[in-house]
Amino acid sequence: LLRPPQPRPLAGKRILITAGPTHEPIDPVRYIANRSSGKQGFAIAAAAQAAGADVILVSGPVDLDDPSGVTVKHVESARDMLQQVEASLPADIAIFAAAVADWRVANAGEQKLKKTGSGMPPLQLVENPDILATISKLGEKRPPLVIGFAAETEHLIDNARAKLARKGCDWIVANDVSPATGVMGGDRNTVHLLTRDGADINVDSWPVMTKEQVATELVARIASTVEKVS
Ligand code: CTP
Ligand code: CA
Repeated sequence: LLRPPQPRPLAGKRILITAGPTHEPIDPVRYIANRSSGKQGFAIAAAAQAAGADVILVSGPVDLDDPSGVTVKHVESARDMLQQVEASLPADIAIFAAAVADWRVANAGEQKLKKTGSGMPPLQLVENPDILATISKLGEKRPPLVIGFAAETEHLIDNARAKLARKGCDWIVANDVSPATGVMGGDRNTVHLLTRDGADINVDSWPVMTKEQVATELVARIASTVEKVS
C-alpha cells in the first residue's frame, strides 16, 4: 500500500530539546533527583521528527526508548546537560522540557558517605546553572524560537508569566504538577501556552490531553509560527 506523503512542515529545521530529570550526585552511590519521567519531552521530540525536523534530544536519566530518527545525548547532571546543549548549537528552535534539578551537592563525597553515629552528613547545596535562561540570553547563537516549561503546584499562570519575563524565552508551556494531577510520571497533561504578543502576554489554555497530543499541538503551533517568520 502506498501511503500519501506526510506533511513535513519542519523540514530543514534543527530542533534542540531537553527532557527528563537530572541526577545530582551525593556520593558515588546516591543522588538527588525528581519525579520527571521524560515522557513529555520525548513525545515532543518524536512529533518534531515526524514533522520533518532534525531533532537533537538531550535527556537526563529516563526509562524510555530513544525515539527513532532522533539524535539522543544522554546526560546525568544539570551541568552535563548544559554542556551538551551548548555543544548542540546552533539550532532554529530550542525546547526546554527537562525538570532540571535546581540544586546540586557542593560537597559530594568521593567515597560512599558512612554513618558516624554523630548525626547527619552536612550536605551543602548550591544552585545549578539555569540552562533555559543561559540559552535565552545568548547573543548571536540564541535560537530564534526558545520555549520553556513552567512546572508549578500553585499560582500557575502568575508564576508562568513571571518566568517568561525572568528567563527571556519566547514561549512558556505552563503545567500544573500538583500530586493530584498525576502529571509527573503520568500520561496526561493540562497545559497553558503563554506567548508574547507585543508587550502583552497571550495565554492559550488547552483541554486535558495525552502527552502525545500536547506534543503534536505544540509542534503544529511551532510550524505555523516558523512559516510566518521565514
Ligand atoms: N530550567 C533549566 N535549567 C534549570 C532550571 C530550569 O533549563 N537549572 C528550565 C526548565 O527546563 C523549564 C524552565 O526552566 O523549561 C522552568 O523550570 P522550573 O523548574 O519551572 O523553573 P525555575 O526557574 O527552576 O523555578 P522554580 O523551580 O523555583 O519554580
Ligand atoms: Ca526548578
